[in-house]
Order: sequence, then structure tokens, then C-alpha cells
Amino acid sequence: MAHSLPETHQALVLDTIGQPLRLETRPTPTVTPGSAIVRVLVAGILSYSRDIYDGSRKYELPTPSVPGCTAIGRIVGVGVDSTKLQPGDLVIVDAVVRSRDDPTTAALSGISDGPTPASKRLMGSEWRDSTYAEYARVPLENCFAVDERRLLGSPSDGGLGYALDDLMYMAVQLVPYGGLRAVGVGAGDRVIISPATGSFGGAAVQIALAMGASVIAMGRNGEVLERLRSFFARQYGEDRIQTVPITNDVQDEVAALGRFGPADVFFDVSPPQATGSTHVKSAILSLRHSGRAVLMGGQKGDLAIPTGPVMRRNLTIRGQWMYGRDEVLQLIRMVESGVLKLGREAGSRTVGSFPLAQWQQALDLAVERAGPGDRVVLVP
Ligand SMILES: NC(=O)c1ccc[n+]([C@@H]2O[C@H](COP(=O)([O-])OP(=O)(O)OC[C@H]3O[C@@H](n4cnc5c(N)ncnc54)[C@H](OP(=O)(O)O)[C@@H]3O)[C@@H](O)[C@H]2O)c1
Repeated sequence: MAHSLPETHQALVLDTIGQPLRLETRPTPTVTPGSAIVRVLVAGILSYSRDIYDGSRKYELPTPSVPGCTAIGRIVGVGVDSTKLQPGDLVIVDAVVRSRDDPTTAALSGISDGPTPASKRLMGSEWRDSTYAEYARVPLENCFAVDERRLLGSPSDGGLGYALDDLMYMAVQLVPYGGLRAVGVGAGDRVIISPATGSFGGAAVQIALAMGASVIAMGRNGEVLERLRSFFARQYGEDRIQTVPITNDVQDEVAALGRFGPADVFFDVSPPQATGSTHVKSAILSLRHSGRAVLMGGQKGDLAIPTGPVMRRNLTIRGQWMYGRDEVLQLIRMVESGVLKLGREAGSRTVGSFPLAQWQQALDLAVERAGPGDRVVLVP
């Protein structure tokens, strides 16, 4: 079932990693069983998307292909096997694509085709083209309908009054939500988040607070830490958020973390540049007996883990890649209920909105504005 679509549409094309993207007019994708066609309205950009496409971050993608990221779009066609989604639905198009016959095989649409021959096979054919385009064909299960009236409606009509691009913040929130939920963060927990001054780290602070935890935000940049602290202290109270600098001196860091008492959870979301940073060791050493650490960072090589305290304190260390379907559905419920804020109340805003043709300015600005809350988007 599909609305009548134009024969052609505009899409960005990545011919080879390391070559500039190119705007192309190409046939509009057609609907097939198991897929939806989405008119892409707003597509997200990572702080490191430029590094992926220019080859400096060694992610792999099939080429040529349409790059992309999680997006907000409107369904314009659904496969005959769809039972819920309908043309007209406003959806989050989730970038996490999973194999249908083995959901442990997964990759990120338009970002990375994953580490295994199976994930590369998954992304190399049916789903190779992502969302930096006017229209995208995506797996049905990657489309999550949202309550448009509630989210975008005016407060006088019972709506939350968000702008369309405010919804893009859910794509950022989902990553830390996946990690925090994986270690069962709950009301009353004390959670160390580090580094907290980046895009996902800043969102982790907000999510942990919305889940009822208290937060110790760690980072190198004192100014950004203080901005985060004062912003969220106004909403959740001064007692709920503290900050500790990353000094790269384990003793200092452990002493500073210890001032707030032992922590229940440590959440790491380091970029590769933070390889070797002491915060991982310091935060693990600051966990209480039976504490939990969740590692979502992309450090290069192996991490040094203080195995003595890990063993004696019965600590759990687990990794987490992205999140599952349940987390997406639950996060949407949290946002629709008003428990988890978007927009100004989340400290999140769009600082640049570009048509596809201005992809280079968009990718550059996303690097410049990396950090909590600021968002650059493509509007195909
Ligand atoms: N597991 C998953 O599913 C998953 C999903 C998405 C992303 N990730 C990982 O998360 C990383 C962060 O992404 P992002 O978008 O939040 O990046 P971002 O906005 O660029 O933030 C990077 C953060 O790292 C800090 N940092 C940089 N160099 C550091 C160093 N040498 N020592 C300590 N801290 C340092 C920055 O702090 P300053 O303010 O001090 O520079 C900032 O807080 C990605 O690079 C990726 O590897 C993992």
C-alpha cells in the first residue's frame, strides 16, 4: 500500500569512503514486503559522521550507498505484511538494523555495516541505502510510530508543544538509555557518568535523572560540567547532580568521587580519543559492593580493569551496544508521558538545519558543536 510517489527523488550518495558525498537524482524506492517507504523529514548527524565518511574513523559501509542516521519521517507506503503502521504515521526511523533470522547480527544504517561477514551481508543489499534522502526504504520494524498530537500539539490541547526537530533528541537519548537500562538503573541509585560533557554523555545525565537516580558527572571541561550541573539542578534539585573533574590522576579522582559516597553504577561512553583516560579505573574503584559498570565507549585497544576490587566487591562489568526494541518503545512512552523531556527543558536545541546539498556545512558544524544538547540536522 503506497501513496503515489514521484518517480525520482534526491539522495546523497557515498561513492567510496574518503570521497565527498554527492547529491543524486535517482529512482524513488518502491515498497516491498517487510519494508516501509518513509518521507524523511529530519535526519540526525553524529559528532563523528564526518570522520566516518572521510575515512578518519575506520567504520565500514557498503558503497555506493546512501549514508544516514536515525531520522524522523512520515510513512508513505507499507509492505503488504504490515499490520499496524499506516501511510501518514509520523515515525522514528531507528538506525539499528537487525537480521530477522538472527537478531544478534546487527549494524547501523548509513553509519557502519558492523564487524562480521553476516552484518556486512545484512547491510550490503536490501538495506544499504539510509536516510540522507527524500525517501528511504527501511525495515518495517525500524519504524516506531509516535503520538503526533501529544508530542507536537499545543499545550492548550493537551500536547507537549514540541517542534518536529525536537523529536530527534530521542535518537541521542536512546543510546544511554540502552546502557543505563541494561544495568537496571533505578530510583535512588547513584550513577557516575563519564565523560558527561559529550553528546551521549550529556543525554545520559538527563536520562539517569529521569530514571530517578542521582548523578555524578565526570569530564575534563569544567565549564560544560558546571553548565550541566546548574541546568539539571534547577529541575531535579541540587542534591541530585554533582560533578567531578577528570584529572588523569586516579588517586585524585577516587578521592573526589568518594566525597559523595560509594556509587551504584558507572556508565562509560568514551570516544576513541579518550583511550587511556583514567576515569574508567577511578569510577570502577568508586563502586560499592555489588556495583555495576556498563561500558558503551569506543576506546581503542583493551581497557585496564582493577581486577582485585572487581573480584572482592562482586562488581558486574558489562558492555552494551546500542539498545533493543523494548528500549525504543519504553523511551517513547517516557517522552509521551512527559517524564522525559525534549527541547528546551532537556537542554537540547537545533543549532543548524541544512538541505541535503549543504551536507558539508552540516557535517562540519556537527563536529564544531559536539557536546551536550546541540544538534545539527539535515532536512531532505
Ligand atoms: N556502545 C554504543 O552503542 C555506542 C553508541 C554510540 C556511540 N558510542 C561511542 O560514544 C562515543 C561518544 O560519542 P559522542 O557523540 O557523545 O561524542 P562527543 O559529543 O564528541 O563527546 C566526546 C566526549 O568525550 C570526551 N573526551 C574526548 N577526549 C577525551 C579524553 N582524552 N579524555 C577524556 N574525555 C575525553 C569529550 O570531553 P571534552 O569536552 O573534555 O572534550 C566529550 O565529553 C563515540 O565516539 C562512540 O565511540 C557508543
